[in-house]
Amino acid sequence: MNWNIEKTYTEWNSNIINKEEKIKIGKQIAQKVNDGDVIGFGSGSTSFLAVKEIAERIKKEKLKITAIPTSYEIKLLCNSLEIPIATLLEKKPDWSFDGTDEVDENNWLIKGRGAAMFKEKLNIVNSKKVYILADKSKFVKKLGEKFKIPVECYPETLNYVKEELYKLGATECNLRTGQGKDGPIITENNNFIIDVKFSNIDINLEEQIKKITGVVESGLFIGYKNIEIIKL
Ligand code: 5RP
Repeated sequence: MNWNIEKTYTEWNSNIINKEEKIKIGKQIAQKVNDGDVIGFGSGSTSFLAVKEIAERIKKEKLKITAIPTSYEIKLLCNSLEIPIATLLEKKPDWSFDGTDEVDENNWLIKGRGAAMFKEKLNIVNSKKVYILADKSKFVKKLGEKFKIPVECYPETLNYVKEELYKLGATECNLRTGQGKDGPIITENNNFIIDVKFSNIDINLEEQIKKITGVVESGLFIGYKNIEIIKL
């Protein structure tokens, strides 16, 4: 039996910066879809708009695809647009796409403004090819210029993880709060997010952060060879 209620999650919940550019990039990604593909769907507004473009193609061309969504926002959108979904337990993506907060000239990324980087990284490491959708605001000379590195940690490890991050050279570690909730943000994996500033991000930092007991994942993506940047 199907739910007989309206599908409410078809619009992004705030103003989308660079919306027209993001829509055009979304159309490029929709052109890459082949019938039968299993596709990792990233999160954030750019991915959201790309999913809508993919849904248009599915409808027009009667394509059959399966999505592996990385957040409830994208899962609900798939649900509203009647795109079948699976998890990594059932399917491996043929390819994936995702947005980013920053990208530098080496294709190193900072992601996780939407706190979804754990599942986003899971799709990325499980895909042969990943398209990163980047409007002009995302390109930086120096990683960490605009965004801090989000670090997801098991809640009771907060103090220990912060202590270890400072030892690695962090200059600021802020527990993420707000956005419609009192107190700390709780991720979809029931964890906290610490937004961490480093004045220097080097090739070893992603691995060093990941080694701290209690850290679930960071939003730092260094040296992923399967990534291709899609821009206008
Ligand atoms: C969410 C992410 C997003 O992909 C990133 O924040 C980009 O978002 P937007 O497309 O809204 O600019 O990493 O965790």
